[in-house]
Amino acid sequence: MSIPRKKFIAGNFKMNTTSSEVASYLEAFRVATEKVNDVDIVLIPPFTSLAKASEILGGAQKIRLGAQNMSSEAKGAYTGEISASMLRDLFVRYVLVGHSERRRLFGETDEMVRRKLVTALKSELRPILCIGETLEERQSNQEKTVLESQLRAAIEGLSPEEISEIVIAYEPVWAIGTGLTATPEQAQQAHLFIRDYLGKLSGTSVANRSRILYGGSVTPDTAVELLSQPDIDGALVGGASLDPRAFAKIVAAAIPQE
Ligand code: 13P
Repeated sequence: MSIPRKKFIAGNFKMNTTSSEVASYLEAFRVATEKVNDVDIVLIPPFTSLAKASEILGGAQKIRLGAQNMSSEAKGAYTGEISASMLRDLFVRYVLVGHSERRRLFGETDEMVRRKLVTALKSELRPILCIGETLEERQSNQEKTVLESQLRAAIEGLSPEEISEIVIAYEPVWAIGTGLTATPEQAQQAHLFIRDYLGKLSGTSVANRSRILYGGSVTPDTAVELLSQPDIDGALVGGASLDPRAFAKIVAAAIPQE
């Protein structure tokens, strides 16, 4: 019998929320999630809010912090970049790697994504690797080819132990910020495909343990059905994570049912 995978809910604030706003957010979010156990919760505010958030959360185990991006370099003359050790110093545990907005708007290539992934793993930051097809790719039935090639480029050749540290986020580009959530069936199909392919690259034991999140216009209304699909292990939430009460409802949708 396989061990159930603990649900994982992450909120990507993108370029929203100042450091002063994060304090009141956390106050409301902590109250709203007070009774939640058995769900991994990760908040991913902008870099400038991480220090404040970390100070407020202290050593709290329940809510972890993630960063939205990171340099693949360890240190040095890279103006404007943030290193893994700077994030670790703020008790950040997770880092988004290869978000479609980074790929599309900031020219991140598969090669850059892989380098960041490897740096994160070496630095004991757990990467949340984002993959997903565009609308055009889906309309021309290319989604599987795209998912396979993004995944292969990022993780081929890594050890099963390294791969088991990675959380994967399936974020169809056409569903991000558009209000067009993938249907639970579409998402489940893509997740199953990703898990099978992960199995080919790293063995079925790692694939069965790996958590695969869905991202793209997740709301409290769509979360329950998405999260009840067998291969959807959580959500990477953008817009709806900016409201602490709405985000807490999405977290609540992930609580295991007796
Ligand atoms: P939305 O939930 O706003 O569609 O954003 C999804 C996303 O990109 C999370 O990383």
